[in-house]
Amino acid sequence: MTPTSRQHRSRWRRRPAVVAGGIALSLAAGAGLVWAAGGGLAPPAVDPKVVHAPLVVPDRIVLTPTAAPATSQSVSWRTSTAVTTPKVQLTLAGTGVARPSSTVDATSTTFDADLGYDVRHHSATLTGLEPGTTYLYRVGDGETWSEWLEFETARTGNAPFSFIVQGDAQNDIKSYVSRTFRAAYEARPYAKAVLHAGDLIDTDDSDAEWGEWFGAAGWSNGSMNVIAAAGNHEYYPGPELAEHWGAQFEYPRNGPEATSRITELYAENVYYTDYQGVRFISLNSNFPGDPEAFAAQTAWLEGVLRDNPSKWTVVTFHHPVFSVSSGRDNAAIRDAWLPLFERYDVDLVAQGHDHAYGRGNLVANESGLPAGASAAKSNKGPVYMVSVAGPKYYVIDPVGDNNWTRNGAHLRTSLANTQLYQLVDVTDGEMHVESWNVSGQMVDAFTIAKGADGTKLVTTETTPRASGPGSTRGGIGRPDLPEAAVPGEKPTEPENPTQVVPVVRTAATQQRYGARVPVRLTAAVAPVAGSVPPGTVTFRAGSRVLATGVPVTNGTATTSLPRLLAPGTYAVTAQFVPTGTGFQTGTSAATTVRVVKAVSTVTVSGLPTKVKAKARRTLKVRVVVPDLAAPAATVTVRVDGRVVATRKVAGTVSVKLPRLRPGKHTVTVDYAGTANVAASRLVKKVVSRR
Ligand SMILES: [Fe+2]
Repeated sequence: MTPTSRQHRSRWRRRPAVVAGGIALSLAAGAGLVWAAGGGLAPPAVDPKVVHAPLVVPDRIVLTPTAAPATSQSVSWRTSTAVTTPKVQLTLAGTGVARPSSTVDATSTTFDADLGYDVRHHSATLTGLEPGTTYLYRVGDGETWSEWLEFETARTGNAPFSFIVQGDAQNDIKSYVSRTFRAAYEARPYAKAVLHAGDLIDTDDSDAEWGEWFGAAGWSNGSMNVIAAAGNHEYYPGPELAEHWGAQFEYPRNGPEATSRITELYAENVYYTDYQGVRFISLNSNFPGDPEAFAAQTAWLEGVLRDNPSKWTVVTFHHPVFSVSSGRDNAAIRDAWLPLFERYDVDLVAQGHDHAYGRGNLVANESGLPAGASAAKSNKGPVYMVSVAGPKYYVIDPVGDNNWTRNGAHLRTSLANTQLYQLVDVTDGEMHVESWNVSGQMVDAFTIAKGADGTKLVTTETTPRASGPGSTRGGIGRPDLPEAAVPGEKPTEPENPTQVVPVVRTAATQQRYGARVPVRLTAAVAPVAGSVPPGTVTFRAGSRVLATGVPVTNGTATTSLPRLLAPGTYAVTAQFVPTGTGFQTGTSAATTVRVVKAVSTVTVSGLPTKVKAKARRTLKVRVVVPDLAAPAATVTVRVDGRVVATRKVAGTVSVKLPRLRPGKHTVTVDYAGTANVAASRLVKKVVSRR
């Protein structure tokens, strides 16, 4: 393929409908399309070029394995063409602020996407890494960066890890496949790889579909290696492989190289890598009709199966050797590759294309089992598996009469109309595979047990395992100083940052609610090696943040308690937040401050100490709270202990007293107070005369 030839093709293929791809596929293969989700049929409300246009901000970040994943790692991402200095920064994973220890320049591929804009994809391979070590990296152009992402290099030799398998995503990727990708991620968030068995998208050059595919995987693609195989839809409508493929996936160039045409045809889509005791081989099953290319790939496959130092072998490609979907038969693939899988006893063959699930083995591998094993549950030899991640489904053949049974194989489990993913846990002597649906039900499981002498038994399981190596973080230990990530550039080992713990003081230990002059808080930051570390202080009262980002000037930062801090007892702390490197945050010991209620005062006017018995007096009751508007609360007026009026008052209220019999009386006025203001009372002696 050349960019020139591509430019003659229409750039304005609209977001291809499920129906277009589905019908083309089903007509070609004679398979029945039973259901396709409709979410992709209607044009999106927003123009796809608005949704998917690239920015200077990196997107579509994806890790891909190198041929030496213990000491190197490839990463790719996308931007607009405004980015001309793409680079990756790398450092050892620490607990705080990342300090890049090396910067690696990336190479770029630019092409015009089908939505009418140009895109630029960048790739870099980080080399000289330390095995089994967690690194942080970010991608960008020196000014605009991605977030810091994390990857762990492979350990040397055999070591437990998990990986994920995804069948065809292909259609309605954002709508439906997001769920599959995320469920798998949720189950094994620290998986080291995710296999995609082809048909990641429906239309080879659809930038919107690739955008949806990356969106569905989100940032998980930036934290685990994507091992993808090219399906027929990566060549649909073709004839070349999707322009995106080579631009966005940096795969080892260790595929077939019989001629320059073969080299180019299979570049970055037929490859292998050895990861912690597993040889992953990605094949391209699209060329049985090209005798030269097919023979070259088959010969290459035999070579990488024969000269294989890894304990386990997992092969992925698109068109299955045994079809699950009705009317399908990939005889050429089966004739060429099945004998090799069997001869070299490949452990797992992960395939797609059928939009259904199937798992089984050759019937011949069900005899001669070790004592105690039964053919009903167990077999020797390779496991062939077909799965689907997306929402398009095909009709499957009956259990007893299908492409498997007609070709000497036993389809142990099959399932239609279900979005699935597989979790694979590799431990010392076992490769355990579970197939799950997107609603959290395990639909199939098996364990491939392999002894030190190479004897192997595959056994169907019915109980899911609670976890696998990829369920939890492997542990970011303090790694030893790694070799230079870039030749000649030695990474800097992060120093142990100095913790800066301020001392907090309060000007008083008590504050009244509403106080005009609230209590002042001071945090003192002591100098380190002669100077005060740069940073700010966050003050808290309990968990409540009082002030944040308060600058430290001459070693102190000050703030005040809020005037209207509710009454209660508070543990006041100051936390130092460094702005420079070399320091880490520290929080002071707590100082207790009590906030008490505001004081209220009740006064009355209109009530002299001597009144006439026949007169009715009207009192003006006033409530005063210093520094605050008196909050509304109940005022109760009593004469000689008997309630004569109850009113809500905020400030002043008038209360008419009853006639007072001749004699001495006591008038009391009670202000009930609130949560923030104390109650108060006024008592007045009154003499009533005839
Ligand atoms: Fe397919």
